[in-house]
Amino acid sequence: MSVDTAATAPDDMRERMERMYRPQRLIYDATRKHYLLGRDRLIRELDARPGEIVVDIGCGTGRNLLAIARRYPGVVPCGLDAAAVMLEATGERFRRAGQPVPQLCRGLAEELDPPAQFGAAHADHAIFSYSLSMIEEPVAAIERAVGHLGPTGRLHIVDFGTMDRLPQILATGMCHWLARFGVRHRPEIAPTLERLAREKGGRVDRRPIANGYAELLRLELSPTRG
Ligand SMILES: C[S@@+](CC[C@H](N)C(=O)[O-])C[C@H]1O[C@@H](n2cnc3c(N)ncnc32)[C@H](O)[C@@H]1O
Repeated sequence: MSVDTAATAPDDMRERMERMYRPQRLIYDATRKHYLLGRDRLIRELDARPGEIVVDIGCGTGRNLLAIARRYPGVVPCGLDAAAVMLEATGERFRRAGQPVPQLCRGLAEELDPPAQFGAAHADHAIFSYSLSMIEEPVAAIERAVGHLGPTGRLHIVDFGTMDRLPQILATGMCHWLARFGVRHRPEIAPTLERLAREKGGRVDRRPIANGYAELLRLELSPTRG
């Protein structure tokens, strides 16, 4: 698979996401629901409590944030995304649903700053749902998110897996198609979580979805949340 890995300046990255998603915004949800597997499972297992701050990093059209706001009344949903068009779609989604629009901020995951962006001292839950596979610096983004978690904070990730247990033709075709959008499996995600768990005394949980097509990962800083 040939993928452009040249580093992109932050402003260029924001513009790249804007250009990619502006024409796609109307079909985004309808098309992605068939292949961004595991998002509802991540939401079911989030176990967020009233008052907790949930930051969705690369929130896209707000599909997950709205589901979280509905499933966990009283949580404080916040969305960060590189593309303004996606944040506009999120705001519109909440308005249509008659729900208060969450705090939304345009920015890069690698520069996450909850106090400045959301007025929150820390995040109780940070989510990356199919965003790390697009993010230029996934390790920096994960470190940044974990650095902003509170003492009992949790990092929840769902994203493409190795696909190595899928039929070869299917895995190769999928990888080539995803590469057209600058998306690829990030093998550095799991080792980064394991290292952070060792450094911070936390615990990592990993579960494959659909024969390794995707993977759910969770880092709990304090396994006993009370
Ligand atoms: C494939 S979409 C996933 C959207 C949503 N999380 C979902 O599950 O439907 C990836 C999103 O990540 C955003 N994104 C990509 N790189 C980013 C970065 N470095 N910082 C913040 N957002 C980024 C894109 O603009 C896009 O909205």
